[in-house]
Amino acid sequence: MKFFDIFFATHFFVLILSIRAHTPGTVTIDSLTFNKIVRNFDVVLAKFDDKYPYGEHQDQFKKFAESVANTKNLLLVEIPVTDYGEKENQQLATEFKVTKTDFPVYKLFLKGKYKPINYTGDKTEDGLKHFLSQHTSKE
Ligand SMILES: *[C@@H]1O[C@H](CO)[C@@H](O)[C@H](O)[C@H]1NC(C)=O
Repeated sequence: MKFFDIFFATHFFVLILSIRAHTPGTVTIDSLTFNKIVRNFDVVLAKFDDKYPYGEHQDQFKKFAESVANTKNLLLVEIPVTDYGEKENQQLATEFKVTKTDFPVYKLFLKGKYKPINYTGDKTEDGLKHFLSQHTSKE
Protein backbone atom coordinates (compact mmCIF):
# COMPACT_ATOMS: atom_id res chain seq x y z
CA MET A 1 0.00 0.00 0.00
CA LYS A 2 2.72 2.43 0.89
CA PHE A 3 4.35 1.84 -2.44
CA PHE A 4 1.26 3.01 -4.27
CA ASP A 5 0.94 6.08 -2.12
CA ILE A 6 4.46 7.06 -2.97
CA PHE A 7 3.96 6.20 -6.62
CA PHE A 8 0.93 8.41 -6.97
CA ALA A 9 2.36 11.22 -4.91
CA THR A 10 5.48 11.27 -7.10
CA HIS A 11 3.53 11.28 -10.31
CA PHE A 12 1.29 14.03 -9.15
CA PHE A 13 4.34 16.08 -8.28
CA VAL A 14 5.95 15.50 -11.67
CA LEU A 15 2.72 16.51 -13.37
CA ILE A 16 2.63 19.76 -11.46
CA LEU A 17 6.26 20.51 -12.24
CA SER A 18 5.78 19.96 -15.94
CA ILE A 19 2.84 22.35 -16.21
CA ARG A 20 4.19 25.83 -15.92
CA ALA A 21 2.83 29.26 -16.54
CA HIS A 22 6.14 30.36 -17.97
CA THR A 23 8.29 29.07 -20.79
CA PRO A 24 12.04 29.71 -20.55
CA GLY A 25 13.19 32.16 -23.21
CA THR A 26 9.93 34.08 -23.23
CA VAL A 27 8.42 37.06 -21.47
CA THR A 28 4.89 36.86 -20.13
CA ILE A 29 2.90 40.00 -20.77
CA ASP A 30 -0.59 41.33 -20.14
CA SER A 31 -2.88 44.12 -21.32
CA LEU A 32 -0.96 46.70 -19.33
CA THR A 33 2.49 45.79 -20.62
CA PHE A 34 1.45 44.86 -24.14
CA ASN A 35 2.07 48.20 -25.82
CA LYS A 36 5.23 48.97 -23.88
CA ILE A 37 6.80 45.73 -24.88
CA VAL A 38 5.32 44.70 -28.17
CA ARG A 39 5.53 48.13 -29.77
CA ASN A 40 9.14 48.68 -28.74
CA PHE A 41 10.84 45.66 -30.20
CA ASP A 42 11.61 45.10 -33.85
CA VAL A 43 10.23 41.60 -33.99
CA VAL A 44 7.86 40.10 -31.47
CA LEU A 45 6.32 36.70 -31.81
CA ALA A 46 3.35 36.48 -29.48
CA LYS A 47 1.66 33.33 -28.34
CA PHE A 48 -1.87 33.57 -27.01
CA ASP A 49 -2.52 30.46 -25.00
CA ASP A 50 -3.96 28.83 -21.92
CA LYS A 51 -2.35 29.90 -18.71
CA TYR A 52 -0.90 26.45 -18.11
CA PRO A 53 -0.22 25.07 -21.55
CA TYR A 54 1.04 21.53 -22.01
CA GLY A 55 1.15 18.85 -24.64
CA GLU A 56 2.73 18.52 -28.04
CA HIS A 57 2.23 22.12 -29.16
CA GLN A 58 3.79 23.41 -25.99
CA ASP A 59 6.73 21.00 -26.26
CA GLN A 60 7.37 22.24 -29.77
CA PHE A 61 7.16 25.83 -28.63
CA LYS A 62 9.65 25.17 -25.84
CA LYS A 63 12.15 23.75 -28.30
CA PHE A 64 11.57 26.68 -30.61
CA ALA A 65 12.08 29.18 -27.78
CA GLU A 66 15.36 27.54 -26.84
CA SER A 67 16.65 27.46 -30.36
CA VAL A 68 15.98 31.14 -31.05
CA ALA A 69 17.09 32.35 -27.63
CA ASN A 70 20.16 34.03 -29.12
CA THR A 71 18.41 35.69 -32.02
CA LYS A 72 18.89 39.40 -31.61
CA ASN A 73 15.89 41.70 -31.88
CA LEU A 74 13.47 38.83 -31.58
CA LEU A 75 11.34 38.68 -28.49
CA LEU A 76 9.00 35.84 -27.71
CA VAL A 77 6.05 36.74 -25.56
CA GLU A 78 3.38 34.65 -23.95
CA ILE A 79 -0.07 36.06 -23.37
CA PRO A 80 -2.02 33.81 -21.03
CA VAL A 81 -5.74 34.08 -21.58
CA THR A 82 -8.24 32.80 -19.06
CA ASP A 83 -12.01 32.79 -19.25
CA TYR A 84 -12.40 32.17 -15.52
CA GLY A 85 -11.52 34.11 -12.39
CA GLU A 86 -10.05 37.45 -13.29
CA LYS A 87 -10.40 36.75 -16.99
CA GLU A 88 -6.81 37.57 -17.72
CA ASN A 89 -6.12 39.27 -21.01
CA GLN A 90 -9.59 38.73 -22.43
CA GLN A 91 -9.38 42.24 -23.76
CA LEU A 92 -6.28 41.43 -25.82
CA ALA A 93 -7.85 38.21 -27.01
CA THR A 94 -10.88 40.16 -28.18
CA GLU A 95 -8.80 42.89 -29.78
CA PHE A 96 -6.86 40.38 -31.83
CA LYS A 97 -9.83 38.07 -32.34
CA VAL A 98 -8.21 34.99 -30.94
CA THR A 99 -10.33 32.18 -29.59
CA LYS A 100 -9.55 29.48 -27.10
CA THR A 101 -10.33 26.69 -29.51
CA ASP A 102 -7.43 27.82 -31.69
CA PHE A 103 -4.86 27.99 -28.90
CA PRO A 104 -1.95 28.28 -29.16
CA VAL A 105 -2.38 31.24 -31.52
CA TYR A 106 0.80 32.85 -32.83
CA LYS A 107 1.03 36.37 -34.21
CA LEU A 108 4.06 38.25 -35.42
CA PHE A 109 4.32 41.94 -34.59
CA LEU A 110 6.81 43.95 -36.60
CA LYS A 111 7.83 47.39 -35.44
CA GLY A 112 5.87 50.16 -37.08
CA LYS A 113 3.06 47.89 -38.20
CA TYR A 114 0.00 48.00 -36.03
CA LYS A 115 -1.52 44.83 -37.42
CA PRO A 116 0.24 41.58 -36.73
CA ILE A 117 0.88 38.82 -39.24
CA ASN A 118 -1.18 35.73 -38.50
CA TYR A 119 0.55 32.42 -38.23
CA THR A 120 -1.27 29.69 -40.07
CA GLY A 121 1.38 26.99 -40.37
CA ASP A 122 2.05 23.87 -38.36
CA LYS A 123 2.51 24.54 -34.69
CA THR A 124 5.96 23.02 -34.65
CA GLU A 125 9.50 24.22 -34.05
CA ASP A 126 10.33 23.98 -37.76
CA GLY A 127 7.11 25.62 -38.83
CA LEU A 128 7.71 28.60 -36.57
CA LYS A 129 11.36 28.92 -37.63
CA HIS A 130 10.40 28.90 -41.27
CA PHE A 131 7.72 31.53 -40.68
CA LEU A 132 10.16 33.79 -38.88
CA SER A 133 12.81 33.57 -41.52
CA GLN A 134 10.20 34.33 -44.19
CA HIS A 135 9.17 37.53 -42.49
CA THR A 136 12.40 38.75 -41.03
CA SER A 137 15.01 37.87 -43.63
CA LYS A 138 17.33 40.76 -44.24
CA GLU A 139 18.84 41.28 -47.65
C1 LIG B 1 -5.68 37.63 -38.86
O1 LIG B 1 -6.56 37.00 -37.95
C2 LIG B 1 -7.57 37.87 -37.46
C3 LIG B 1 -8.35 37.09 -36.42
O2 LIG B 1 -8.79 35.89 -36.90
C4 LIG B 1 -8.43 38.36 -38.61
O3 LIG B 1 -9.41 39.23 -38.11
C5 LIG B 1 -7.54 39.09 -39.60
O4 LIG B 1 -8.30 39.48 -40.71
C6 LIG B 1 -6.41 38.17 -40.05
N1 LIG B 1 -5.50 38.94 -40.88
C7 LIG B 1 -5.15 38.56 -42.09
C8 LIG B 1 -4.20 39.45 -42.81
O5 LIG B 1 -5.57 37.54 -42.61
